[in-house]
Amino acid sequence: MTEINAVTKLERDGDVAVLVLNSPPVNALSSNVRQGLYDGFKAAGASDAKAIVLICEGRTFIAGADITEFGAPGKPTASLLDVQAMMEDSPKPVIAAIHGTALGGGLEVALCAHYRVAVPSARLGLPEVALGLLPGAGGTQRLPRVVGVETALEMMTSGRHVPAPEAHKLGLVDELAPEGKLREAAVAFANKCVAENKPLVKISENNTKLQAAKGKPEIFAEFRKANARKFRGFDAPEANIKCIEAAVNTNSFEEGLAEERRLFGGLMSGAQSAAQRYYFFAERQANKIPDVPDDTPIREIKKVGVLGAGTMGGGISMNFANIGIPVTIVEMQKDALDRGLATIRKNYERSRGAKPEETEKRMSLLTGSLDMNDFADCDLIIEAVYERMDIKKDVFKKLDGIAKPGAILATNTSYLNIDEIAAVTKRPQDVIGMHFFSPANVMKLLEVVRGEKTGKDVIATAMKLAKKIGKVAALAGVCHGFIGNRMLSQRQREAQKLIMEGAMPWDVDRVLYDFGFPMGPFAMSDLAGLDIGWVKENSKGETLRDVLCEADRRGQKTGAGYYDYDENRVAKPSAFTEKAINDFIVKSGANPRKISDEEILERSIYPMINEGLKILEEGKAIRASDIDVVWVNGYGWPVYRGGPMFYGDLIGGPAKVLEKMKAFEAKMGDDFKPAPLLEKLAAEGKKFADLNK
Ligand code: 3HC
Ligand code: NAI
Repeated sequence: MTEINAVTKLERDGDVAVLVLNSPPVNALSSNVRQGLYDGFKAAGASDAKAIVLICEGRTFIAGADITEFGAPGKPTASLLDVQAMMEDSPKPVIAAIHGTALGGGLEVALCAHYRVAVPSARLGLPEVALGLLPGAGGTQRLPRVVGVETALEMMTSGRHVPAPEAHKLGLVDELAPEGKLREAAVAFANKCVAENKPLVKISENNTKLQAAKGKPEIFAEFRKANARKFRGFDAPEANIKCIEAAVNTNSFEEGLAEERRLFGGLMSGAQSAAQRYYFFAERQANKIPDVPDDTPIREIKKVGVLGAGTMGGGISMNFANIGIPVTIVEMQKDALDRGLATIRKNYERSRGAKPEETEKRMSLLTGSLDMNDFADCDLIIEAVYERMDIKKDVFKKLDGIAKPGAILATNTSYLNIDEIAAVTKRPQDVIGMHFFSPANVMKLLEVVRGEKTGKDVIATAMKLAKKIGKVAALAGVCHGFIGNRMLSQRQREAQKLIMEGAMPWDVDRVLYDFGFPMGPFAMSDLAGLDIGWVKENSKGETLRDVLCEADRRGQKTGAGYYDYDENRVAKPSAFTEKAINDFIVKSGANPRKISDEEILERSIYPMINEGLKILEEGKAIRASDIDVVWVNGYGWPVYRGGPMFYGDLIGGPAKVLEKMKAFEAKMGDDFKPAPLLEKLAAEGKKFADLNK
């Protein structure tokens, strides 16, 4: 064995040199790794070995470029291109042995081996698009040469991690190795290459798969059209597509590579990729809770109870059934239970690629009941009943009497005080908020709400469980609406004010849609239903909502709300709504004015950032980036703008936000009163990013 450097060693297995990389946590291509690979391949080439295997230790093959090094001054080490050239031009067969994930630069390295061997559990992909980038080390030119143009388009613009068996079918993996026997299989493959004198395949030289797309611009046009909604606002998908077009339309691999480099440079220096790279780390940072260390013991969750089979309870239950955890769902009335279970079934049946046996398997994990005593053997019980404190207290008292010792009692409340709820039990340390977002089986966010007395192991369990069910978790403290809804209230208030000053709901929605939200607040209300919390008997036409609901304009479900809807649920501005708004304005004696798009955006967003600072100064969020994680995953904040706090820095930082808040405060009063922390940051010349720890 020769130690090449701190992260690479060269071993020998008969005639095969085995270059072993070990750079935790994910063998990312840091300068050290690149240098180790370069020197390692050189040493292997100079040795009398007849073939070379590249393999990684630890949890994974190379998971990509080292994102922490992006933007940092380059160190004078071997470049990735040097390493790749060394591999591709090697006169000895080079075999990449893949386990875990071969992603981004990692797959681009593997694509320069002559062959790839992988265990079935491995996954391969070019996920750069999720970082606002494109594969910048030849991946855009090599992938379509292996898997064809259509598959490359799909893989690169989705960033999907393709399972090894599928990659094998696509030709991306040459041989599947038995699980746990990767090294032996790769060495055997290498020996076979030597014995059979197999060709040294250089992907860059094989244009066969590109030919099929030559002279067919419609392939790209149709792909763009089919994905226009998904790609809206993002720069990176289009740049990825252009690279594949270049692979097809240029005359040589090198020309395509030059186009890749040009487009990569543009993305790398742009604001979108900066935001998306920031977000990558923000999401991981959100799992770190200073006083709840990573090794905090967690409670085992083998069975879950859900109270209430309404909008939220159903979706919440699906999350657990999806990963094989049985769920007991308890309702008050049989018809509500039947309805809830039927909705779950419908959701499963409707989901893309749903197989009937999968639906049955998941449904069989769900047991409906009308008796809370059936929660007795549950390790976690999530309450999702009506949003009323008296009801929540009543059910928590009951749960306290039923749940086994050590069971976690969670509430899905959107706004209510969890400490007050916990106080009715004899086990406030077991009570926590698990705030899912609607639709709970789809939305990625889980706001974990820590009560004053919540146990650290309960917090750790909720955070880990979130990951298991495919959610992104962020920790909040108890306050009205926690992180997300508390900030949303600011935007909602301004939206309502704006339409009473002269903007129309579709003006407000258009500005926020163009900003990158999937929909604006009024379209959102129409989708959710205007009548949530509206009581017909008490309605006296005092608010716009009263007027709309009284006219049976309760949102999409009744064919009209703020908007009119056609039979395909396409929204159109409504003359009825416009008149109703104008009537209110006249009644109030105000003078409607023309409101600019800029004002709509600023009034929607600045008060939210300001509220974020209040949340931080009260210690209800750990760091500014956690707030961004909440907004990206729970409210459709466009990830290419990082999140409200990141965006605050992008548009000029605390000083600029303060200046705007003060200007609005002078005109419109206390709703725009700057948070003390905003004043402080501005006075100290700091950024919002300085609040990240
Ligand atoms: N660079 C630097 N650090 C990385 C990293 C990378 N590419 N990928 C992961 N890490 C770090 C994470 O920040 C985390 O650090 P922490 O423990 O201090 O928080 C640690 O590695 C473990 O990561 P995860 O918590 O995400 O671990 P998982 O096991 O859940 O997931 C993974 C592993 C699937 C590899 C996931 O980390 C991932 O998707 N990584 C990013 C992959 C990627 O985007 N690669 C492309 C990079 S860009 C590129 O290659 C450009 C090229 O074309 C030139
Ligand atoms: P919902 O009205 O759709 O469902 C509530 C269900 O609870 C009903 O089916 C009702 O029959 C049942 N229920 C009421 N009291 C019960 C009891 N004592 N025992 C058993 N079942 C009982 O309400 P939704 O929207 O699902 O909301 C539930 C909770 O989730 C609320 O706290 C709400 O604030 C919160 N939430 C709602 C979101 C949404 O978008 N709808 C988003 C996030 C949280």
